Amino acid sequence: MDTLAPAAGLDREAMASRYRANRRRTAGLFAMIAPEAYEDRPIPLRHPFVFYDGHIPDFAFITLVRDALGRPSVDPELERLFNRGIDPRDAATAAQLQKPWPDRATVRAFGDACDAAIFEAFANARLDDPANPRLVHAEAAWNVLEHEEMHHETFTYIVHRLAREKQRGPRFAHRDVAPLRRDPIAIPAGRATLGARRDGIPFGWDNEFDEHAVDVAAFGVDAYDVTNGEYLAFVRDGGPVPPFWFERDGAYMLLGAFEDLPLPSSWPVWCTQEQAAAFARWSGARLLTEPEYHRAAYGTPGGEERPHPWGEAAPDPARHGNFGFRRFDPEPAGSSPEGASAWGVHDLVGNGWEWTATPFAPFAGFRPMASYPLYSKDFFDGMHFVMKGASPVTASTLVRRSLRNWFYYDYAYVYATFRRAYD
Ligand code: AVJ
Ligand code: FE
Repeated sequence: MDTLAPAAGLDREAMASRYRANRRRTAGLFAMIAPEAYEDRPIPLRHPFVFYDGHIPDFAFITLVRDALGRPSVDPELERLFNRGIDPRDAATAAQLQKPWPDRATVRAFGDACDAAIFEAFANARLDDPANPRLVHAEAAWNVLEHEEMHHETFTYIVHRLAREKQRGPRFAHRDVAPLRRDPIAIPAGRATLGARRDGIPFGWDNEFDEHAVDVAAFGVDAYDVTNGEYLAFVRDGGPVPPFWFERDGAYMLLGAFEDLPLPSSWPVWCTQEQAAAFARWSGARLLTEPEYHRAAYGTPGGEERPHPWGEAAPDPARHGNFGFRRFDPEPAGSSPEGASAWGVHDLVGNGWEWTATPFAPFAGFRPMASYPLYSKDFFDGMHFVMKGASPVTASTLVRRSLRNWFYYDYAYVYATFRRAYD
């Protein structure tokens, strides 16, 4: 449903049905919060839930229908109110952004009007127009599909932090297993291809271009992500406590998405980039870099590079990893052996994004995208770090080699883990 070869032309119906599926998933996520929590803001650095109810269809309308296709506004004031939802750096700035919100019925009616215009565009408009920069390779249409999928994940982070009694989340079975063997895997020196060619993939965000090769020196890498059990030894030695842990009766517990769990030792630890780097140093290693991630994930002993750690097959959560919303929490590290890379490195896609040591920066040839010039630009500040892979709540349609995610080095809410590199 997500792979439209550029040569095959544009599949309007596939795009419309992906948009419809995305709207349904958003509605499903909103059903996980009690109605009285609609204006709650469990993460002070992000907007309240109500904002995202308006923002997602608003962004799609503005980006595709109003600004790319040049159609008239549906409601200029609400379009402005719900326009941009990035993280303000501090709570004071966040508080300034706080406005009296329209009631839920108003937001719903606005969203429906946006959706109607978008479906009309998917059905009839010229989505791919080489003469319109926002519509080259149907950029604006792909943009709105992936934008909503990104918000499925960031919205879930916020639901995770909502008081338990206001959550309406599903329950899943959880497993914890015996500790893993810890043998770093040796990756020989070789080339890694980062980024993508502009005509090589149906869609990529601006920060994914241009494609380029990087020579990577030989290094060792953890076959498995660092687990809660391993990180606990660091905490006992004075290391910082990960943001998803809390203490009860003298023992650490995990704040799961919808329940509190005795700390599952075998799950990848989800923590900040700063904590990941500190753990790596404490244990005599360092964090993996973005090019090293590419070598470990996509390189092969034969020298060829592949589109996914497991090879060519389209990403399938049932086989390749803990992504695509098949659950909300991690699984024991190494639970998806079919998704391991050619070198035997596990969970590179799924079970938590992988923090890297690489500051988020543009590749040579970077141009802000016409349909969303602010997508990446403001975050090239040395304080955001590249994350690769996927979390349990990353859509399967976002899984591709060139995709790069990023957050502040101390961002506490993201579903991200790490593995170490060894010189
Ligand atoms: C790419 C996940 C860092 O959530 O801040 C959504 C995605 N940008 N709306 C974010 C995004 C604008 C972005 N991340
Ligand atoms: Fe957004």
